[in-house]
Amino acid sequence: MTRSEAAPLQVIQNRWYAVIASSELGAERPIGRRRFGIDVVFWRDGDGRVAVAADRCPHRRAKLSLGRVKKGCVECPFHGFTFDSEGACRSIPAHPDRPIPRAMRLETATVREAHGYVWLWTGPAQAPDDPIPFFDFEGFSRAGSEHTEPVEVHYTLAIENQLDFAHLPFVHASTIGRSMPPGPMNVRTEVDGDRIRAWLDGEDTFLELLGPNIWRLRISASLYQQIAFVPVDERRMIYYARTYQRVVTVPGLDWVFGAFQRAVNPFILRQDSRVVEAIPNGETRLRDMGEVLVPSDAAIIAYRRWREAGRGPLAAFSDRPVEAEDPGLIATSTLVRRAPEPASAAGSLDEAV
Ligand code: FES
Ligand SMILES: [Fe+2]
Repeated sequence: MTRSEAAPLQVIQNRWYAVIASSELGAERPIGRRRFGIDVVFWRDGDGRVAVAADRCPHRRAKLSLGRVKKGCVECPFHGFTFDSEGACRSIPAHPDRPIPRAMRLETATVREAHGYVWLWTGPAQAPDDPIPFFDFEGFSRAGSEHTEPVEVHYTLAIENQLDFAHLPFVHASTIGRSMPPGPMNVRTEVDGDRIRAWLDGEDTFLELLGPNIWRLRISASLYQQIAFVPVDERRMIYYARTYQRVVTVPGLDWVFGAFQRAVNPFILRQDSRVVEAIPNGETRLRDMGEVLVPSDAAIIAYRRWREAGRGPLAAFSDRPVEAEDPGLIATSTLVRRAPEPASAAGSLDEAV
């Protein structure tokens, strides 16, 4: 796998991470994305279900995401080998009658589609059949499309920024923090399983993380901002920002809200990025960060504590070691043309394959 080329991120194990929006992935073409420090390819199988694998053909390491989808399989752009959603190689066009080596497999992971996202299970346990946890937006409509904003920060730094009330009057003094003058703040925090909620004493507005990477802001009883913090690698993440509303109930008119949010969101997120991108980049930890935290950081501390308890290596992609007795591999070795043998290296080709 690509593991030798890039170290995967530490993650919260045995959780679903939102990794792309459903709308990014059509039926015809695979797409390549970097997620958790790994290059991965997404495509839809013959039933429209999402499949994901390391974006690296086991034959000659071409990027499968440059290929196409053929009968529910991803077809490599280099020599046309096809792979199904389980990672099995289904055809080698140049050798249709030969056995397919068992080692000719993709490393796949468990993914599911729900709430307009594709979610990847981090492992190592089996993914449960239960519905993927999400916020209850019953009676709300999604106003317009997703706004995506790539930023140069580790996703944990971005999450912490969105669990922080005290930055609003300073970073967003000209926008969402305008009604909140600098002054005393009593931040309340509540942790319930994977949910961390923070609010200001006596106020209805709250920030809520649904770990590992979904968040919402209650602006009013009829309006929420929702974000997925999608990890790209050790230094980068992407905001997937949405608005849920029930202010406009006339069908089709919620695009007004969508248009407004799409205009405003980038501006607000860039106010954050200006400050957060300048913090030393990398995953945050509970200890030894060289910071001095204060009571208004309570939600950040709660988040770090929660993450510390479930943190571990990404175990999503199956490792499939090459089997020594693989009959397909022996068949493959017969395809290698023998070079004239120098006396000193007799038999070296056999050993190499
Ligand atoms: S590199 Fe993919 S088929 Fe050859
Ligand atoms: Fe902010």
